[in-house]
Amino acid sequence: MKKANLLFIFGTRPEAIKLAPLIIEFKARPEFNTLVCVTGQHREMLDQVLSFFEITPDFDLDIMMRDQTLFDVTSNALKKLEPVFMSAKPDCVFVQGDTTTAFVGALAAYYKKVQVAHIEAGLRSHNKYSPFPEEMNRTLAGNLADFHFTPTEQAGNNLMNENIRSNIFNVGNTVIDALFLGLIQAKKRKPNIDFSFLRNDKKMILITGHRRESFGNPFEDICSAIATLADKYVDVDFLYPVHLNPNVREPVNRLLTGKKNVHLIEPLEYPEFITMIERSYIVLTDSGGLQEEAPSLGKPVLVMREVTERIEGVEAGTAKLVGTDKNLIVSEISNLLDNKKAYEEMAQAVNPYGDGTSCKKIADIISQLYIK
Ligand code: UD1
Ligand code: UDP
Repeated sequence: MKKANLLFIFGTRPEAIKLAPLIIEFKARPEFNTLVCVTGQHREMLDQVLSFFEITPDFDLDIMMRDQTLFDVTSNALKKLEPVFMSAKPDCVFVQGDTTTAFVGALAAYYKKVQVAHIEAGLRSHNKYSPFPEEMNRTLAGNLADFHFTPTEQAGNNLMNENIRSNIFNVGNTVIDALFLGLIQAKKRKPNIDFSFLRNDKKMILITGHRRESFGNPFEDICSAIATLADKYVDVDFLYPVHLNPNVREPVNRLLTGKKNVHLIEPLEYPEFITMIERSYIVLTDSGGLQEEAPSLGKPVLVMREVTERIEGVEAGTAKLVGTDKNLIVSEISNLLDNKKAYEEMAQAVNPYGDGTSCKKIADIISQLYIK
């Protein structure tokens, strides 16, 4: 039996989290030769995930620069991928989601006439500047891909509306596989950070944010809303692991440093972070992955964006779009803190994004396609 060569290409924290359980699944199957290439679009945030899931890249392009532009990421990753293809000789390349690494990985595979499997295919906001540049990244990756692994039925419909009609497999989102795996591991290990600064008997709101379309004034409004809420609710802890992007850190540090109940900390390692989702009362975020994790853990999630491609959480009632409008963020959080009924209505554990078996399903399908 000839082994099939699989090459995973990824570069940021969320891609690593969502691909890790799939890489583990393929590495356990002897019929595949599973190789990993990281572009290093993220450095520290990527390395944390790799070390937690014990994944050692076969190729590391190490492209990250401080304050990198989209031109930097795209051109550096593309150029450095060419020799990787010469060496790895993949039969199929795996990319995930909507980052610039994902788009470039799919483009490089196309240039080498190698088949592409797109994980978390078909998400669309139908607004090409929001999220920016992710909406275009995932649309282009979808056009380049041969196999589309969609997380929900809606995502499959989006592809069909774009006339992509074959090789669509609705398998759920691998984020749920990672979450289940991560929670088991997290319970086995001692947290590598001392959370005693959080008051045990108080509610905690978990915050993250990093979207490019919010840089500048929208981010200032978000920070100002958090500052207002922290003054209004002194009995609530606001835990904010701050993304390493300098465009995020500058306003966050300027506007939120010094408030006693606002805890600005470094990005948490994945197991500690999901433990904090479990411990939180409400999640306030613009992150894609968190919109998937929070419903699964029964946490209301307020989404600081104008549109979302993850509409299933909104339809299920656990997620709500609040945009970056200061007054709306303050009033929606206040409502959830003050109104038990409104809170209970949102805090239901639902799982519209998968049941933790996506990786097995994907590996079985790839086996049928490649192993004769
Ligand atoms: C990227 C992705 C976004 C994804 C997000 C997840 C693109 C264009 N953007 O956004 O889709 O949702 O990751 O977090 O693909 N930095 C570090 N260390 C790190 C990571 C980032 O210092 O480990 C800093 C660097 O200064 C870097 C900057 O953050 O230049 C921006 O990184 P970049 O990957 O370009 O954008 P993100 O905002 O992280
Ligand atoms: N996450 C983490 N540590 C943190 C913040 C987030 O491990 O301090 C995880 C989170 O559980 C989720 C993923 O990172 O799985 C989300 O990544 P991010 O918000 O960077 O990107 P997005 O999901 O918006 O693409």
